[in-house]
Amino acid sequence: MKYLNVGLIGAGFMGKAHCVGFSNMPKLFWPAPAMLKMKTICDIEKDIAEEAKIRFSFEKCCTDWRDIVNDPEIDIVSICTPNNAHADIAVAALEAGKHVICEKPIASSLEDAKRMAEAAAKTKDQGIISLCAYQYRDVPAIVLAKKFINEGSLGKILNVRCTYLQSWSADPDSPLSWRFQKEIAGSGTIGDIGSHVIDIAQYLAGDIKEVVSTVNTYIDNRPVQEGGVDLLGTVKLGADAKHEDVDVDDENLFLVKFENGAVGSIEATRNAWGRNNFITIELHGTAGSIYFNYERLNELQVCWASDPDDRRGFKTIYTGPAHFYGDATWNIPGMNIGYGELKTIEMFDFVKAIVSGEQLPTNFERGYQIERVCDTVLKSAKTGQWETVTEE
Ligand SMILES: NC(=O)c1ccc[n+]([C@@H]2O[C@H](COP(=O)([O-])OP(=O)(O)OC[C@H]3O[C@@H](n4cnc5c(N)ncnc54)[C@H](O)[C@@H]3O)[C@@H](O)[C@H]2O)c1
Repeated sequence: MKYLNVGLIGAGFMGKAHCVGFSNMPKLFWPAPAMLKMKTICDIEKDIAEEAKIRFSFEKCCTDWRDIVNDPEIDIVSICTPNNAHADIAVAALEAGKHVICEKPIASSLEDAKRMAEAAAKTKDQGIISLCAYQYRDVPAIVLAKKFINEGSLGKILNVRCTYLQSWSADPDSPLSWRFQKEIAGSGTIGDIGSHVIDIAQYLAGDIKEVVSTVNTYIDNRPVQEGGVDLLGTVKLGADAKHEDVDVDDENLFLVKFENGAVGSIEATRNAWGRNNFITIELHGTAGSIYFNYERLNELQVCWASDPDDRRGFKTIYTGPAHFYGDATWNIPGMNIGYGELKTIEMFDFVKAIVSGEQLPTNFERGYQIERVCDTVLKSAKTGQWETVTEE
């Protein structure tokens, strides 16, 4: 059995999610492509690093990511820091011959995203795997939708309608964490959550060619959270806290034209009371439609044009062992998977790619392309015109 040593950087929300994925991978997927040893965990804050070492069963901890990247024993570098730290770590790790999984959005600027894509392109011939963590495309119901599209069951795709709505920042007393600072995050909602639905839309319907958008910031001043993990609205700060201006987008809505002639709309906001992780995809083709809502992620709704008039309508398929990854997760439909299993599926595909040497669809080159779509959305909001997604 092959063993791979993991170094993980950034022990917050996604640090936990990656640890759940890495440690559960051989439990759900057996035989596992390789076994993983949790070697070193890094967080810039010493207390967080020390606690995470114990909690997630790492051998060592550190506060400087270079200790991981320069360690010859490390095979996999997992980047779970805020966005502006991704590029330096990822490029150094790839150049040191490590396989890298990096959280999305790939970087906080187009220049950094390009640097990462170039470093990944240079090292991929040596069998080095890069992965940008767009895990929602791995939801079995989404993969099933892709299968229906590929086999022609939906006919020609005409229209794709997507949302990603959350509510955690709808309260003006939700703190100004790193996610509301352009210097660290790069952008607001578009990079944070819009990028996920851009990835799913492109996975299902092909690449986006042009966009026209409107982008708003409704809450332009918030109480400041100093350091630490982003508490994602679970803590409110009062009027007496220091306040600063928000310089990123709260909400974006845009129309899209796909390369293949389909059209669609995408909207993303973190200020939608009552919507929690409301990723929806509705896709209409000449032979049928599909509808998916992440808040019911084990279900795919389908409607076939070929059904008789008196019984045509959406029906619900519950994903389970008959579907993608279903034989490895839980073996009765309706037992259901959640976010932890999804990150486990992601780690399974990542480790499988490392062992086989086959690149993954959401490698850093794809992460850079998604970043270019996000950048074009922000550009169109400024010009008020349709803008073309740049090639490079
Ligand atoms: N794929 C998804 O579904 C998903 C969900 C949430 C977040 N994310 C992404 O994951 C990344 C991390 O987000 P999060 O929510 O886990 O953030 P977080 O605030 O919960 O945690 C970030 C951690 O990184 C540490 N850190 C900051 N700079 C560092 C550095 N230079 N070196 C080492 N540690 C450093 C912080 O101290 C903190 O503990 C972001 O890129 C975010 O966009 C992805």
